[in-house]
Amino acid sequence: MDALNEILAFLACPTPKSWIEKAANPESLPILLIDHAHCEKKAASTAMNLMFRYVDRSDLLNKMSRLAREELIHFEQCLALMEARGIQYGHMSPSRYAAGLRQSVRTSEPGRLIDLLIIGAFIEARSCERFAALAPYLDDELAKFYRSLLKSEGRHYQDYLSLAEAYAGEPIDDRIAHFRALEKQLVEEPDEEFRFHSGAPAQEDVAA
Ligand SMILES: [Fe+2]
Ligand SMILES: [Fe+2]
Repeated sequence: MDALNEILAFLACPTPKSWIEKAANPESLPILLIDHAHCEKKAASTAMNLMFRYVDRSDLLNKMSRLAREELIHFEQCLALMEARGIQYGHMSPSRYAAGLRQSVRTSEPGRLIDLLIIGAFIEARSCERFAALAPYLDDELAKFYRSLLKSEGRHYQDYLSLAEAYAGEPIDDRIAHFRALEKQLVEEPDEEFRFHSGAPAQEDVAA
């Protein structure tokens, strides 16, 4: 799949093997699915926040509106899967990942918008990469679901990136490189909490 290769090239590193092993453990499944559902809901909400803040940018409004609808459909699919498996949806603390990326967003415009769009591209790209990496280790139903998500998340990555490029009006390679390095850190450095976007499981977590 060309889009997946593009995404692998966009990211600085693949998901650590230790994370995949942890995620593939059946004991991790409830956390994985509950957090995944939260991520889909958050993705819709982030897109809608952009629509409220940047009301005069029609390309953004159209792309984010469609994206938000798709994320909510993914959310409903997650809920249905959990219900069928007797997994109760509920509150869950978010991983450090998105907040870690947002810490470096510039405060003045249009830098703020461009940075948020670049972060959106990285989150979509990483999600896509993780779905692909995890699918071979999951049961048939989940693997099919995760493979079905690859396509839309790949398009979301492209939407975010093309909006960032169009609105910046200047090369954004430096900002992309900045967030690429930060994203790699968040993915590779030991993380105490296991989540869909968490880093490499901390040592004691691996042993558990
Ligand atoms: Fe999604
Ligand atoms: Fe998405």
